[in-house]
Amino acid sequence: MTLTFQKITEHFGAEVDGVDLTKPLGDGVLADILEAFDEYSVLVFHDQAFDDDTQMAFSRNFGPLETMRKTKPGGGGHISDISNIDPATKEMYPAGHWRLLYNKGNEMWHSDSSFKPVPSLTSMLSGRIVPPEGAGTEFASQRAAHAALTPSEQDRLDGLVAVHSFEYSRSLVDKELLSDAMRAEHPPIKHALVRANPKNGRKAFYSGSHASHIDGWPEAEGRALLRELVEWATQPQFTYLHQWSVNDFVIWDNRCMLHRGRPWDVTKYPRVMHRTTVAGAGPTVSEDGLALSAA
Ligand code: OGA
Ligand code: MN
Repeated sequence: MTLTFQKITEHFGAEVDGVDLTKPLGDGVLADILEAFDEYSVLVFHDQAFDDDTQMAFSRNFGPLETMRKTKPGGGGHISDISNIDPATKEMYPAGHWRLLYNKGNEMWHSDSSFKPVPSLTSMLSGRIVPPEGAGTEFASQRAAHAALTPSEQDRLDGLVAVHSFEYSRSLVDKELLSDAMRAEHPPIKHALVRANPKNGRKAFYSGSHASHIDGWPEAEGRALLRELVEWATQPQFTYLHQWSVNDFVIWDNRCMLHRGRPWDVTKYPRVMHRTTVAGAGPTVSEDGLALSAA
């Protein structure tokens, strides 16, 4: 088998063929995939028949896995079950169930774990059960969007620090969504608004639904800037919509990509996606709150 990469869009994304990621990888194959990850930001693989153990084993090639609270039994806290199936009943959640509302948070443009002081390097999503219509996952390149700004617009962003808050992003879904314990678990934290890829130096802004405001700015002004950045990055020329087939496996660079889940008829079709999340480098601000753009 030969490893091949085929570009998906002008600015980012590649479809990868010629590798079975569920098996140990041959010499050089992992290095090529890691290099492609830094280059393309989104890699799409087909026909990867992962179970949770093989998915975790492949994911660990990129670094330590994040541990999540809401996770699948047996996954050791490392498998996020992005699903509309109730593990207790094995049936789809009924309309109006809390979990379906909670899942709606994924439909806002975001970067996984940007509300954590050490943010995520990459998320890896395995399509286990896939509806026949809707339910795609859409990606937007904050790197391509940053490169398309004018130099003075870029200068304006350098050095800024954004406050990211899980409580803020969930309040956009429903003010009552989170319990007090969930709120307390993730206090607001700060991240550099512009991050450079440590290997190739390419800059991206780092925004998304968890980004609440700009540190030291009036809240409304910071929020308006963050909204503008998301609007800029999610223009068609910077986006790709992935429509899932069973056993598709998509990995993306949370440092420079936004993503969102697209809606589907959640009471008609089951959808089960298993996600592993690899921790990245951080914090992205110094102890005195200054942006560390290369983090
Ligand atoms: C995620 C996510 C979107 C989707 O798994 O992090 O945002 O399409 N998923 O399931
Ligand atoms: Mn996500």
